[in-house]
Amino acid sequence: MIHKKKIFSKIFIDGGDPSETAKAEQLLGFIDGQTTNPTLVANNPIVKKSLEKGEKFTKSEINGLYKKIIEEISAIVEWSVSIEPYADLKTSAEELLSQAVGMAEWSSKAWIKLPTTAQGLEAAKKAVANDMRVNMTLCFTQDQAAAIYAATKDAKYPVFVSPFVGRLDDRGENGMHLIENILKMYEKGDGHVMVLTASVRNFDHLMQALRLRSPIITLPFKVFEQWAGKRFMLPSDDHISVPSQLTSIPYKEISLDKHWYQYDLYHELTEAGVKRFAEDWNRLIR
Ligand code: E4P
Repeated sequence: MIHKKKIFSKIFIDGGDPSETAKAEQLLGFIDGQTTNPTLVANNPIVKKSLEKGEKFTKSEINGLYKKIIEEISAIVEWSVSIEPYADLKTSAEELLSQAVGMAEWSSKAWIKLPTTAQGLEAAKKAVANDMRVNMTLCFTQDQAAAIYAATKDAKYPVFVSPFVGRLDDRGENGMHLIENILKMYEKGDGHVMVLTASVRNFDHLMQALRLRSPIITLPFKVFEQWAGKRFMLPSDDHISVPSQLTSIPYKEISLDKHWYQYDLYHELTEAGVKRFAEDWNRLIR
């Protein structure tokens, strides 16, 4: 165990299995929050078992199961649970918002994940105006992070932005540079958006995110276990990461003062990510 005060970042678990959250909580002594998504829910042991037997779910059954998973996780984590509504590329802002309103009822710790697309941002703007908490997911560029900042300026609660570092690494770009760049850009802002390092794939991502003081880091249980195996070591300020062949992502000078729709919102990985989450969700439904 390590004293909570020694870790600057809030530590989340990235997963859909409450028993992992419980184990992590026992090992570290606390868990600040959890992120879930359709792929992670599809990998929940109960859901997986049914799928392996060829049994699928009705929409209402899978929503009921998702709600139960969120309730169990909520009872373990201290602060926040991210819940992801169904979205494909045709889902309107109104549809997202109406799902968000329902899901926000599942837990007093709910943050609703919305895609960083025009529809997602429109929904986020309305959601924060109604004092809902949002986690903007599938962020791959500084422009998208600037748009999130601009669209959610009136938020009463902290807004999360989730840059997906692993998926950038997968295509040869250094995802951790995006975290560094967004943190630097937000230094000019009012602090209402918290950077949540997501799509963490390895121990080095964790060390870098801790060194950068990413306000939140979400860890797959496998990476969490590696960290536990190293007695929750923390990086020194001059921590040097494993040399990588990944291409640098340069910092862009971007003003935070424009209207959200004036930023370039497109990134192919955002669209691919929305499609993949929709496919993983649809795979569960009969
Ligand atoms: C968390 O909020 C994200 O959905 C998750 O970290 C994505 O991780 P992946 O890129 O490994 O699917």
